[in-house]
Amino acid sequence: MVKCNPQTPAVLVVDDEVLVCQLLQRILQGEGIPCTSVNSGEKALEYLKKNTCHLMLVDIRMDGMSGFDLLQKTQEQWPDTQVVMCSGVDQRDVILTALEAGAIGYVVKPFQPIDVLISVKNALRIARLEQENRAQRRQLEQDLSQCSLELHESYRRMVQQERLASLGQLAAGVAHEVNNPTGYIASNLGSLSKYLKRIIAFHETAASAIDASSDNQLRSELRTLRARLKIDQIMADLDELIKDSIEGTERIRRIVMGLKKFSRKEAEEPQAIDVNKLLEETLNLCWNELKYKTEVVRRFSALPQVWGMPQKLSQVFLNLLVNAAQSIEKQGTITITTQQRGDHIQIAIADTGCGIAQEHLDKIFEPFYTTKLETGGTGLGLSILQEIIGQHQGQIQVQSKPGSGSTFTLTLPVFSG
Ligand SMILES: Nc1ncnc2c1ncn2[C@@H]1O[C@H](COP(=O)(O)OP(=O)(O)OP(=O)(O)O)[C@@H](O)[C@H]1O
Ligand SMILES: [Mg+2]
Repeated sequence: MVKCNPQTPAVLVVDDEVLVCQLLQRILQGEGIPCTSVNSGEKALEYLKKNTCHLMLVDIRMDGMSGFDLLQKTQEQWPDTQVVMCSGVDQRDVILTALEAGAIGYVVKPFQPIDVLISVKNALRIARLEQENRAQRRQLEQDLSQCSLELHESYRRMVQQERLASLGQLAAGVAHEVNNPTGYIASNLGSLSKYLKRIIAFHETAASAIDASSDNQLRSELRTLRARLKIDQIMADLDELIKDSIEGTERIRRIVMGLKKFSRKEAEEPQAIDVNKLLEETLNLCWNELKYKTEVVRRFSALPQVWGMPQKLSQVFLNLLVNAAQSIEKQGTITITTQQRGDHIQIAIADTGCGIAQEHLDKIFEPFYTTKLETGGTGLGLSILQEIIGQHQGQIQVQSKPGSGSTFTLTLPVFSG
């Protein structure tokens, strides 16, 4: 048997009469058309499984499988293979039935070589056109699905930008509202701290004077009052209370600054970034998400600067930190390690959370993949992150063990000036 080259049109003759097979082969091979023959429908199907065949010349009446059955099976399994029926029956209804069943031509035996050639050449031409047609349709379908993917992707970006824009507006509003009262609370606390030192000094002198007083009744009344009102404990606590309040307002100030940065509307200009500092600022922003169930361990090394857009990188850190916190059910640790590796820096955010099963590791970067549908996760966090890291010529890697936790490692090029 000839193993056909798919580029060359190849013909298979299926006829249980050896002489017919030989005659047809001779006619076609004489015209340079690769041709082979088998003597039953079953053998034809075996041949089709292993070889490319563009056209079959099929006898209608054969022992075993009939030509019509072979035609039907061929159309189901090898739609690229065309069939010309070849038969001694020249009744109109049989010919029409064959054509309606999908045959591309019909040659009546006994045939003239020229009639066979005309039928075969026409059939091969139609087969080629149909094949081209199918290839074009496949290409069109591919183009269409590519377009639809791109459309989906731009829609996703638009939704995310909208979401960020409205988040940004909200953040800017809150930051503005919180900023002023925080300013005067901080300033008043500063004055209060100074005044308190004087009050404490006065109280200590007054207390010594009471203790030294010779007026027993006055001394006893004042001492009882002092004890009842717990003045000594209050005096001891006041300093600590004010120190804590000043620290609290300092924290609010940093969060407000972070929110303002996060919500800035203009397109970001790239700049040199201190990653350790940016991580600290981002931690301030999402502290509320982290503080209840995580201990945050900072393993920061001195780092050279990187070149990029701080708001976007902050968004990357924010997504990773929030994901890490969300992966921890009750109590756990998030360890942030930064270090320089040659002309790159590495930022690893490791959690002791639920981890990610091996088979899901590839999917987590796909847009809309989320296991947090119930809590309103969009599944966009990591896909946006990947895009931003790409814009910064960086890379992201994940290692994870279900039940033990995950580590997301970012690599960013050092700013070379
Ligand atoms: N640190 C992590 N530990 C365990 N699973 C994680 C971690 N980070 C991401 N995943 C998994 O990857 C999925 C996709 O994360 P991604 O940040 O893209 O979306 P999300 O967190 O589900 O939703 P959104 O970020 O919009 O709130 C998560 O739903 C979660 O299953
Ligand atoms: Mg997320």
